[in-house]
Amino acid sequence: MNKKKDPSSVGAAVIGLGRGRTHVKAILKAQGAELIAVCDKNQAAADKFAEEFGADAYTDLSEMLKRDDIDLVHVCTPSGLHTEMLLQIAEAGKHAITEKPLDITLERIDSAIEAFASRGLHLGCIFQIRLMPAIQEMKKAVDAGRLGTPVLANAHVKWFRTQEYYEQNGGWRGTWAWDGGGSLMNQAVHTIDLLQWMMGPVQSVVGHAKVSAHQIETEDLGVALVKFASGAVGTIVGTTAAYPGFGSSLELFGSDGGIAMKENLITDWKIRGDQMAEEEADMRKRFGELSEAKAALQADTTDKQIQDMIDAVRFNRPPMITGREGRDAVEIVLAIYESSRTGKEIFLPAKK
Ligand SMILES: NC(=O)c1ccc[n+]([C@@H]2O[C@H](COP(=O)([O-])OP(=O)(O)OC[C@H]3O[C@@H](n4cnc5c(N)ncnc54)[C@H](O)[C@@H]3O)[C@@H](O)[C@H]2O)c1
Repeated sequence: MNKKKDPSSVGAAVIGLGRGRTHVKAILKAQGAELIAVCDKNQAAADKFAEEFGADAYTDLSEMLKRDDIDLVHVCTPSGLHTEMLLQIAEAGKHAITEKPLDITLERIDSAIEAFASRGLHLGCIFQIRLMPAIQEMKKAVDAGRLGTPVLANAHVKWFRTQEYYEQNGGWRGTWAWDGGGSLMNQAVHTIDLLQWMMGPVQSVVGHAKVSAHQIETEDLGVALVKFASGAVGTIVGTTAAYPGFGSSLELFGSDGGIAMKENLITDWKIRGDQMAEEEADMRKRFGELSEAKAALQADTTDKQIQDMIDAVRFNRPPMITGREGRDAVEIVLAIYESSRTGKEIFLPAKK
């Protein structure tokens, strides 16, 4: 079967039409891609989307994968289903981009990475917050060594979710089997990814995770003390029990100063030097609350990451955030769970 009009464009398909709707819209906006098909086990959802966006509808991934005009599949199903779908996609010889977290165990994540790498296929993992302009500025400052010797970093996600949130859509969220955890694995995983991306490898964690305000299996409150391979220390807080919600924040401190964001906007930028106050005012104006273009700064990062993945397939180069990079934050979250269960400090394998 072939629906693709332009043989040189990337034929894209999306499975899972919750978050997947954002992927569908990003594909429709992207250069060099055509939306070929959508898939959801909910037939009505698949049909509605297919009709609205001119794609073909499927309820079964293996049927969709028989098409030879699909080159790239976007996996947007509940997290604990990602690898079983990714393995089928790789077996069918197609590239994939998956939602965060890549999956919920390291064994599965490793098998997915291997399945794509061994076939010369590309695998990307969505972590769109990395592309926020303020986050990019923080990363540039850290990589340029502007903070000096790393000292302390705090990644905090203090959100609120209702009990209904956990019960809707079949109740997969907050379960060990499908969500693989709670406020750390699902919500804080973005900010934990930023923490390790900026601060480098985590050496050990001591954590505590508990259910505090919901009836769910997994934690709605997780905290951890982190030691980095660099010698710096840090804290992680991830909760969906902070009524009515206090946002996400990341603070980085070094021997030459500190920078911080809240809700992906710069709040503090104090780096040693004659121009410290002027630089902070400028950064807050361009990337902070003072920015007139605040909404625009937040808006289109998923679109950008999806365009990058399409280009990775078009030009046969790795995507900006590979499956391998999708592994690191999950490894940290799983170590916090292990520490909470055992009461021990958990050491992560040294990164090469
Ligand atoms: N990057 C982000 O900011 C972001 C935001 C939200 C969700 N997510 C991630 O996206 C994924 C999905 O989350 P969601 O909030 O969209 O969930 P959701 O429950 O809203 O949607 C999941 C969809 O998958 C479908 N589905 C489930 N099993 C299926 C199967 N076997 N075959 C076909 N379809 C199936 C369901 O019918 C549903 O439509 C999760 O991994 C989540 O962590 C990422």
